[in-house]
Amino acid sequence: MTIPVLTFEPMHVSVKDNMYMAFDQVYNSNWFIMGNQLSAFEKEYATFNDVNYAIGVSNGLDALFLSLKALGVKAGDEVIVPSNTYIATALAVSYVGATPVFVEPNPKTYNIDPELIEQAITSKTKAIMPVHLYGQACEMDKIINIATKYNLAVIEDNAQSHGAAFQGKCTGSWGDANGTSFYPGKNLGALGDGGAITTNNDDLNHKIKVLRNYGSAVKYKHDIIGHNMRLDELQAAFLSVKLKSLKSWTIQRQEIAKKYSDELSNIEGLILPYTHSEATHVYHLYVVRTDKRDALQKFLEEKGISTMVHYPIPPHLQQAYSFLGKTEGTFPIAENLAKTSLSLPIWPGLKDSEVNYIIEIIKEFYN
Ligand SMILES: Cc1ncc(COP(=O)(O)O)c(C=O)c1O
Repeated sequence: MTIPVLTFEPMHVSVKDNMYMAFDQVYNSNWFIMGNQLSAFEKEYATFNDVNYAIGVSNGLDALFLSLKALGVKAGDEVIVPSNTYIATALAVSYVGATPVFVEPNPKTYNIDPELIEQAITSKTKAIMPVHLYGQACEMDKIINIATKYNLAVIEDNAQSHGAAFQGKCTGSWGDANGTSFYPGKNLGALGDGGAITTNNDDLNHKIKVLRNYGSAVKYKHDIIGHNMRLDELQAAFLSVKLKSLKSWTIQRQEIAKKYSDELSNIEGLILPYTHSEATHVYHLYVVRTDKRDALQKFLEEKGISTMVHYPIPPHLQQAYSFLGKTEGTFPIAENLAKTSLSLPIWPGLKDSEVNYIIEIIKEFYN
């Protein structure tokens, strides 16, 4: 049996007719940028996320960057980000000229540890960017309380967690402005790059819309130095189609995760995902941890099962951030996660027989 770590095939077969219809509509409309498809998708995504506004943009990194910029975060400022995130979170901070300040995750949830945030706050701190990593919502109540106490903005990085919630409230609806990604492999993925900002704030909605479109609210009138960071009509139309299936795809992910967790729970030395009692987990990734990570990955590969490591090098140890001077040992939890994490195959349409085979091979490895 050969099992890829991710395939779109079962999802894309199920929506193929509607995707082709969406393509036809855009093609025949002769309107490709900033049209009806985008405004329709923005409304649908705002409703899905339980916020007043969604603003479609070019990708997740740009969504985070535009959020920070609209909130006025700039050179000389500091922004708190988790030490074990995908580099995009930190890059968005760098794009506005600010400095990412890394805070370690809770070793059980892998999400930023709210207990460690206060000690990282300085007079330069302007914002906190929690990342709902792997699909699990962060402890947003505590994060919002800290932000309120120190008058900081909150920008959720919701790239991996469409449809998750903390205390029943959607991820992407807690912060001032929140970025998400529709990179193809995300739980809601476009057929190319895409992203969105979600917010309840009228002023930020307006600012971000202007920023993404050359600093212009009225054609050929440019009030500020803006960007070209728009979500195009085709991607918006495709996303509208796929959004309709997102809930059922998420349930499938959760069922697969449950099966993994039920069947693998008794293996000594294999740490399974832990979900906080008030959080939901939409299992963008199913990440196990083991000291024998490399050997397990090799064994699975030999048996036809592909896996991945999210992420092998934490941002502070990337060459790009060497100027921060954070050497090995600075963030031991993030560094340990990078050495021990392994993402098992998970996607809507992964068959029971395939999940059983993966479980069987993992058990074989430990026997
Ligand atoms: C946590 C996180 N933040 C931000 C991004 C950036 O999204 P994009 O690739 O759409 O720029 C990604 C995904 O790539 C991500 O996983």
